[in-house]
Amino acid sequence: MKDAAPQTVYLKDYAPPAYLVDEVHLTFRLAPTATRVLSRIRFRPNPESSSRDFFLHGESLTPIRAAIDGQEVRPDITEAGLTCAVPDAPFTWEAEVEISPETNTALEGLYMSRGMYCTQCEAEGFRKITWYPDRPDVMAPFTVRIEGDAPVLLSNGNPVGVGEGWAEWHDPWPKPAYLFALVAGDLVAHRDSFVTRSGKTVDLALWVRPGDEGKCAWGMEALKASMRWDEARYGREYDLDVFNIVAVDDFNMGAMENKGLNIFNSAAVLASPDTATDANFERIESIIAHEYFHNWTGNRITCRDWFQLCLKEGLTVFRDQEFTSDMRSAAVKRIEDVRMLRARQFPEDQGPLAHPVRPESYQEINNFYTATVYEKGAEVIGMLKRLVGDAGYSKALDLYFDRHDGQACTIEDWLKVFEDATGRDLSQFKLWYSQAGTPRVSVEESFEGGTYTLTFTQHTPPTPGQEEKRPLVVPIAVGLLSPNGDEVVPTRMLELTEARQSFAFEGLASKPVPSILRDFSAPVVLERAASRAERAFLMAHDTDPFNRWEAARSLARDSLIATIREGAAPDADWLEGLAAMLRDDTLDPAFRAQVLALPTQSELAQALADRGQTPDPDAIHGAVEGLKDAMARHLSDLAPGLYDAMRVTGPYAPDAEQSGKRALGNAMLGLISRRDAGALAARQYAEADNMTLALAALACLLRVGKGSAELAAFHERWKDDRLVMDKWFALQIAEAKPESAVETAARLTEHPAFDWKNPNRFRAVMGALAGHHAGFHRADGAGYALLADWLIRLDPVNPQTAARMMTAFQTWRRYDAGRQAHAKAALERIAATPDLSRDGAEMVGRMLG
Ligand code: PHE
Ligand code: ZN
Repeated sequence: MKDAAPQTVYLKDYAPPAYLVDEVHLTFRLAPTATRVLSRIRFRPNPESSSRDFFLHGESLTPIRAAIDGQEVRPDITEAGLTCAVPDAPFTWEAEVEISPETNTALEGLYMSRGMYCTQCEAEGFRKITWYPDRPDVMAPFTVRIEGDAPVLLSNGNPVGVGEGWAEWHDPWPKPAYLFALVAGDLVAHRDSFVTRSGKTVDLALWVRPGDEGKCAWGMEALKASMRWDEARYGREYDLDVFNIVAVDDFNMGAMENKGLNIFNSAAVLASPDTATDANFERIESIIAHEYFHNWTGNRITCRDWFQLCLKEGLTVFRDQEFTSDMRSAAVKRIEDVRMLRARQFPEDQGPLAHPVRPESYQEINNFYTATVYEKGAEVIGMLKRLVGDAGYSKALDLYFDRHDGQACTIEDWLKVFEDATGRDLSQFKLWYSQAGTPRVSVEESFEGGTYTLTFTQHTPPTPGQEEKRPLVVPIAVGLLSPNGDEVVPTRMLELTEARQSFAFEGLASKPVPSILRDFSAPVVLERAASRAERAFLMAHDTDPFNRWEAARSLARDSLIATIREGAAPDADWLEGLAAMLRDDTLDPAFRAQVLALPTQSELAQALADRGQTPDPDAIHGAVEGLKDAMARHLSDLAPGLYDAMRVTGPYAPDAEQSGKRALGNAMLGLISRRDAGALAARQYAEADNMTLALAALACLLRVGKGSAELAAFHERWKDDRLVMDKWFALQIAEAKPESAVETAARLTEHPAFDWKNPNRFRAVMGALAGHHAGFHRADGAGYALLADWLIRLDPVNPQTAARMMTAFQTWRRYDAGRQAHAKAALERIAATPDLSRDGAEMVGRMLG
């Protein structure tokens, strides 16, 4: 049922719960459309609260009965929950409700995915299961009994008993309801075990549908590696006898950290060499780590309220990034993370959906699982670590775990721990949590009498609801190189705290070349009028791998911008520098592949808008194609040799070394196929024995207008594999010409396998369309209209997934008047949809606002 007038929730209104929970007992009698949920909950008045109003959340529940201390009661039930008179002392609440998992298409609460029961309770799904104080600051141990005819019945914690048609679980660790989970179905386990460093054996199981057993090994390895890493790097051991992971086909997000029972979108855990790409393997490794790491940062220490979401998400993303850096190449990982930040978080922070890392209000919390909360939240922790140093960081984290284990915390608690552990005053740093927008930092330099001075200016543009911005604490890592390429001043962390501030380096023999914002030490836009020659120098000589990459990237970007604005030819120095890096075999192939990747077309559109020019998606697309052709020409001598050199022999492994080689080899294939009409790509496709090589080859073929036979064969071979079929759908749209992307997407929505209620399939098609810059932003508005049609269709079925996809429109105001009118019409059409969900209404409202 929909709220007539959506309520805004404010951080400032937080009040502690009136009642606390000491114990929860749940019994589930599973049936597809009539599951019975019996609850027995021990409540006690909260001494910290002055309120004695007893309110339990509950939505879409059919009440059967309720009792307090064994006496039947008749609570006042509304759409949002119930109130009831209760004793002024501890009491036992009992209730029975009926729910219908089979008709639950929103995939929140208890739902069914292809015959299997599963739950998703974060953020506010538990209230669709039974009446409860569904807020993260109410924590309790749970005992769960499941009755049903499925062969496998799982819940949180440790198993306490199992019999024919039932199982019982007990989770001793107090947890908020959002971490509750239940799974029941016909599943098979891929098992292993892990011995913690204090010698406890943990039984590990990855539960999948029969048929998927061959896709489990990698996820299990990643889990064991994560458990080992969290012990070694953070001193955190696992705390139950079992750890279960379940793969589910219908899931709104990537995965969920439910205590002892992580639930994963199958796309985020299942992989085999012939069905998943290297990028998929890397992503799985990091998501497994992420969910596992939540056991301490999220579960043992949770959030007081949903405004504190970054407390667990920013920190856990930061931890999974550190993990991947340790498992693979730190430099390549940093580049990947910055690429992603710029592609996803910067547009959010610079548009109508901008919000602080810790938002101060929301209508629908599901809309705040954003790149800002997650990725910028992780950047903020990275800055904190840079400012206090490695030792300070680990002291603060030890204190955090010590002081707050078992609690529901705030950003204030988090920062206090750093202040207490390091003696640092973080009051100005805290602005990173409350001030939205991407800061712009500009630099001037001067050199006089052996002293080199850098003067920084910072400025954060206004964002919705925040006109005035204050100066932030910006850690700027700087190194200085001498003109012959030696590092004369190794990396130093400058702390910019003023709107304008200078830093001097003394005793230099000659004017150095600065390498600024090394390792991307802060999530800012660095505006610097460095000459092309200087950037070419840094591209060749910088000792900081991130900034070497960055120099190359900014030259490529400026070359593209010059082409778009004045039809300039590609930057020859950049092409030469690129060739030199590609020839340098001391450089990691994965790094070289990163250097070849051009800025996204959406980033170019933003760069143009920042320079006061209205971006033309067709011109951007044309410039990128032109530059790729120029790369293909310029690198034509070395590409075939490098392609051959990157061939991997021996059995497939998704590790950093092999995947780096395949990435560079596939990049060479991309260049070569622009000149050989896809001949080499056809051969690679025919010979490929893994998905990474096959998919890249197929993409090259489609790009040059070939590959229809291969596409058909691919379909034939993989039609029963959903995850591979998602690739088949997405690839055709991604590789379509700008003028046919919309028609390709529209045609694919008519394909019998376009199961649009499945979030992965919906995203495969609509996400690919939204990601096709020139296709989606087509001048006649056809891209906007098609996406709007489908969002309107999905909204009543699955509001959460529909609302997330609406972010495709967030940049609409940067385009020309014609495109703006089409985008606005599409958004207004969504806004005018009768019974639009709260999720959708909030998103379109902010974008039109
Ligand atoms: N908490 C999950 C994670 O980041 C994400 C998630 C949020 C999943 C909401 C489902 C629903 O690990
Ligand atoms: Zn998370």
